[in-house]
Amino acid sequence: MIFETHAHYDDEQFDVDREDLLARLPKENIETVINVGASFAGAKNSFALAHKYPYIYAAVGVHPSNIEDLSEETMEELRTMAKDKKTVAIGEIGLDYYWDKEADVQAAQREWFRRQLALAKEVALPVIIHSRDAAADTLEIMKEAHAMDVPGVIHCYSYSPEIAKEYVKMGYYIGVGGVVTFKNGRKLKETVEQIPLNRILLETDAPYMTPEPFRGMRNDSTYIPYVIETIAKVKEITQDEVMITTR
Ligand code: NI
Repeated sequence: MIFETHAHYDDEQFDVDREDLLARLPKENIETVINVGASFAGAKNSFALAHKYPYIYAAVGVHPSNIEDLSEETMEELRTMAKDKKTVAIGEIGLDYYWDKEADVQAAQREWFRRQLALAKEVALPVIIHSRDAAADTLEIMKEAHAMDVPGVIHCYSYSPEIAKEYVKMGYYIGVGGVVTFKNGRKLKETVEQIPLNRILLETDAPYMTPEPFRGMRNDSTYIPYVIETIAKVKEITQDEVMITTR
């Protein structure tokens, strides 16, 4: 059985068949799904999905590109949702300097990242970290927040094997999805090769990041076996071992 740690089934791309698809997941060997909020509305929708399906759990948080959603009021609502038993993580939170280049916007991202890390610590939940083109600042903030006390995953990991090993040393997990199957996914394959299997979590980031040979199509958790196949090949182990250890 597969543990899917990162999907966005609240995305509008699933409006046409959401109920059919989610109902089918257990038959497709998907045991557990964490639906991750990327905006404040996404956090609320993740929470609603988690309360509708026994095998779906919620992560509540606001993505760095959506920090305009955050205020003292919405932070308070995140806190309330975070205390619910079907909420298992704060996320996705972090820094994205790829989409936002202005210094003041990046400073605001860092501020809300710190605030949401503090919330995770307060409610004793792990974090799901999104970090793009911001390796040094992400690592620095996670160290200063005493991130060793706030466990979690670096989702859709895109940096070097060296930085991955540093995160693993800090106690973090590395989220691996469709990118590992891409022809230009060599760096992630090297990371997978160099970190222990029990520090890897399987994820899709659905509807995005569909593995080869379906790259470009809408992604969902039923494509995770292609990710498992690639990890098994890279680490020269069986697919069962990948599925069981990451679970
Ligand atoms: Ni995501």
